[in-house]
Amino acid sequence: MNCTKCKTKAAIKIPRHHAAFCRGCFTNFVHDQVARAIKSETMFGKDDRILVAVSGGKDSLALWNILLKLGYKADGFYVDLGIGGYSERSHTMVRQFADTIGVPSGAVLHTHTVEREEGAGIKELAQLVHRPTCSTCGTIKRYQFNRAAVVQEYDVMATGHNLDDEAARLLGNVLHWQEDYLDKQGPTLPASVDGFAKKVKPLYRLSERELAAYCVVNNIQYIVDECPMAQGARTLLYKEVLNRLETESPGTKQYFYWGFLEKQRKKRASSEGMLERDQALLHPCSACGQPTTAEMCSYCKLMARAKREVSG
Ligand code: FES
Ligand code: ZN
Repeated sequence: MNCTKCKTKAAIKIPRHHAAFCRGCFTNFVHDQVARAIKSETMFGKDDRILVAVSGGKDSLALWNILLKLGYKADGFYVDLGIGGYSERSHTMVRQFADTIGVPSGAVLHTHTVEREEGAGIKELAQLVHRPTCSTCGTIKRYQFNRAAVVQEYDVMATGHNLDDEAARLLGNVLHWQEDYLDKQGPTLPASVDGFAKKVKPLYRLSERELAAYCVVNNIQYIVDECPMAQGARTLLYKEVLNRLETESPGTKQYFYWGFLEKQRKKRASSEGMLERDQALLHPCSACGQPTTAEMCSYCKLMARAKREVSG
């Protein structure tokens, strides 16, 4: 099979686009998909400072690389969770990328070390507060990522969620009719109030498989293993189901997720007041000042509980 663009020998097939590309044209295709996502969802401009959450996996490193290649000002933010060999390997991948590509392109890598800043590794913290490791991890990562973005005056926070992630999440939300989550599941979440940075997902037009291929083609080393604490059995099942549908009928995933976005866009245009209503529920956390709907934000509650457990 030949490349749809330049007619030389193709290296990768993209059935949902009825296309095949050689290595060079594939890289251009990926960059073009991200550029379209940034534009159509008004994510950011060339003067904005972007903070990219990097985990050492293929999606986040591909995202950081693509943004730098497209000429954006993008720095990295890595959270060292202190999960033995897994954290060491993922940190090595992130550092390696930063040293060889990030820093030479003018970017900076920020690192948040949970053991140092929160006083214990993620497993130990989760045990102290009697919560699953993944949800404790989620609370800390979300909080520290947002804090770093606000304190260091970044215009926007970017994460490496891809089409598979978003379609699986959408399927889960629809199956359980979680309408509140559905309303908030878009590739761009505006900075609702002071203290909450704008959040974007520039990879939502690209699949997991395409991002893995992008890393291979562009020589980006990444950590292949999933976090050993991951409990995402449900998400994996949804991804499997969607992959089966995709094999039978290429384009299902993008039709499902992009179709949802189209409907959301129309709905948003006719319900401008919704965001203001959500904003009215937010006020500063009594401990740290970050916006929250409760008296204390979930991060401060978690840390207060951990301290009580240690001293009690
Ligand atoms: Fe959060 Fe593994 S990535 S617990
Ligand atoms: Zn707080």
